[in-house]
Amino acid sequence: MSLDKLLSHYSLNGSLTLANHVVMAPLTRCFADEQLVPTAEMVAYYARRANVGLIITEATIIRKDGQGYPNTPGIFSDAQIQGWQHVTHAVHQHHGLIFSQLWHTGRVAHPAFFDPQGQVVAPSAIAAHGSVPRRRELTYQTPHALNEDEIAILVNDYAQAAKNARQAGFDGVEIHAANGYLIDQFLHYDSNRRDDNYGGDAKRMVRFALEVVDAISTAIGADRVGIRLSPLGYVNSITPDSRDRDVFDTLLEALNHRELAYVHAGLFDHATSSAIFDGNISHYLRSHSQHTYIAVGGFTPSSAEQGLVDEHFDLVAIGRPLIANPDYIDRLRADEALIDYHEQMLTSLD
Ligand code: FNR
Repeated sequence: MSLDKLLSHYSLNGSLTLANHVVMAPLTRCFADEQLVPTAEMVAYYARRANVGLIITEATIIRKDGQGYPNTPGIFSDAQIQGWQHVTHAVHQHHGLIFSQLWHTGRVAHPAFFDPQGQVVAPSAIAAHGSVPRRRELTYQTPHALNEDEIAILVNDYAQAAKNARQAGFDGVEIHAANGYLIDQFLHYDSNRRDDNYGGDAKRMVRFALEVVDAISTAIGADRVGIRLSPLGYVNSITPDSRDRDVFDTLLEALNHRELAYVHAGLFDHATSSAIFDGNISHYLRSHSQHTYIAVGGFTPSSAEQGLVDEHFDLVAIGRPLIANPDYIDRLRADEALIDYHEQMLTSLD
């Protein structure tokens, strides 16, 4: 099958043109150093993949209490900004584009990573179930429910992280509002039981997400800002609630009135279907969002090409195949077979 569309360039907006329609999905790898600074191995890892249309980095924490996994990089200290400068420089030398995925894990954080006396924060004082992957002795804690002053500080911290990302040479940022982390915790009835300005109905439940979008857009320009959403990816202990549909309808409608670089689906399997959202994620996001739309989840080169040709999405994010094939684009161009992904590949940063 021809991959003409997949391998052709894409004009995202007046500021950014992608060399092809392949986006590297954000992939947490847990290889930052103990100060959460990107290492030389990470520089090489990203540089090897720089010929995709756009790299979205692994989720990167905006402040200390956002950390829920070992050795995930940050973007809040000078050393971290300098570490990322090496990454962005290497990607740009290969004519690539790279966005930083800005992350706060909310109640999925654990004080063991940032301050044994510290507290975990979230919209409501409801703990995630279970314990930290790969650190099963660390049970999730009941979070402190953020008050409105603390929410204002968090919004500001997101904006500062976006400025830090630009200082580090990133072409833009992706707001991680997916997968049951802090922003997503505000967007679901199961994890948001507030009855103030940030909860109680759809309009108030989307306020935090929109404040973050607006603060970051003001800080670095909306053409440099994307957002990742997982309306039907129920992970990290969020139980589906049919009222969530109204929350996402309200959010997408509000985003349609704002400039943004793109909206990106967050989930593992694109075929996942939900009665609450009338089908799969692309069907839902495509029909409710006017922004450039990036699909994800189990795509092969030919299924990606077909979806692009059929205009089900504008760009496609590729995750695990890009772990297995740093030379993914070269293989597609040469019509060479791809190497299958295995979980064992996560143990090194090739
Ligand atoms: C992920 N995914 C993910 N998503 C995200 O928004 N931020 C992240 O940091 C990560 N980290 C991560 C690590 C690993 C090892 C995997 C496998 C996945 C989800 C990822 O971006 C993508 O949505 C899925 O992997 C589905 O796409 P593929 O792999 O089927 O192309």
